[in-house]
Amino acid sequence: MNLMQDVFARAKSSKQRIVLPEGLDERTLKAADRLLADEIAELILIGNPVEIIKRASELNLLNIQKATLVDPKSHAKKQAYTDLLVKLRERKGMTPEKAAVLVENPLYLACLIIKAGDADGEIAGAENTTGDVLRPALQIIKTAPGISCVSGAFLLFTQNKIYGEEGIIVVADCAVMPNPTAPELAQIAVSTAQTTKSIVGIEPKVAMLSFSTKGSASHEMVDKVVEATRLAKELAPDLKIDGELQADAALVPVVAKKKAPGSEIAGQANVLVFPTLEVGNIAYKLVERLGNALAVGPILQGMAAPVNDLSRGCSAEDIYNMVAITANQAIGAKQAAQ
Ligand code: ACO
Repeated sequence: MNLMQDVFARAKSSKQRIVLPEGLDERTLKAADRLLADEIAELILIGNPVEIIKRASELNLLNIQKATLVDPKSHAKKQAYTDLLVKLRERKGMTPEKAAVLVENPLYLACLIIKAGDADGEIAGAENTTGDVLRPALQIIKTAPGISCVSGAFLLFTQNKIYGEEGIIVVADCAVMPNPTAPELAQIAVSTAQTTKSIVGIEPKVAMLSFSTKGSASHEMVDKVVEATRLAKELAPDLKIDGELQADAALVPVVAKKKAPGSEIAGQANVLVFPTLEVGNIAYKLVERLGNALAVGPILQGMAAPVNDLSRGCSAEDIYNMVAITANQAIGAKQAAQ
């Protein structure tokens, strides 16, 4: 877990402003209290301030008073954020009336706070579905320059140190794109390699996964992965990437030797890119639950500012970790923009 210690240290070195729209959720409050005590980030909690303080004192969370509390029904910038929403979405049919309703929705408000430059990132999803967290982010914050496809990666800390980077494997997409096209899959591969570099700090070795290795099966789903691999190489010529590979050929050197001889990725991949969301979402949950791995994520990639989604089954510890990761992404984005 040295990796997470580095993530916490980086977050503390340049405190970012992170919005938590689910300000009354007990796990969110517990994580927020610890984050404020450990000085990992500045926090903005959305919710009725009286109820937040009452809930926090019932739970004996005394550090919550260090957070900025924003009441979605009444706060100083409500009209400014409503106007911003109309300006951003006018062409999509947004009216002042519709905006006045949406601005009271904590998930929309969080994105508007970021878009207005009043915060650096957001974490939500302890109480809301992925779709509900992502939709306002995709509509308001939008994608980073050069990216059209947002996706979600997980860091898997597995028990088996012989695979990946001493047991750490980065996997995607596990959260966003149900059935990416080949060009979208290529973007997912490149974004996941960037996440691996910026958060794990290692050189990515990307395996584009399929049920086929190097032509062992013929199917249009295999063709998609082959084409995505080719396009990813065009997008990032220096990237170490290979496909199509089965999971065992990607990870296990002895299998790689047999199925993909000569590949510089097979047998030593530390990044696994899944062909669809179905397989990505199921695979990470199986590794987490059956393999007792720690799964940190989803880390959303490709947004103009970091917004991360939680699983509704998350713990306070997951939220604590994800705030630090979001802060790292915000620091990385600011450095890249300089
Ligand atoms: N990248 C970039 N922009 C996107 C993406 C994407 N992947 N998907 C949608 N958008 C944009 C659209 O272009 C649109 O922009 P516009 O309104 O400015 O034109 C906006 O987002 C809304 O798009 P819609 O297609 O209307 O939104 P939709 O209702 O389909 O929602 C969503 C998009 C939420 C990402 C949807 O694809 C989804 O629900 N994905 C699956 C999420 C999920 O359930 N994951 C599994 C659980 S996660 C877990 O277990 C950790």
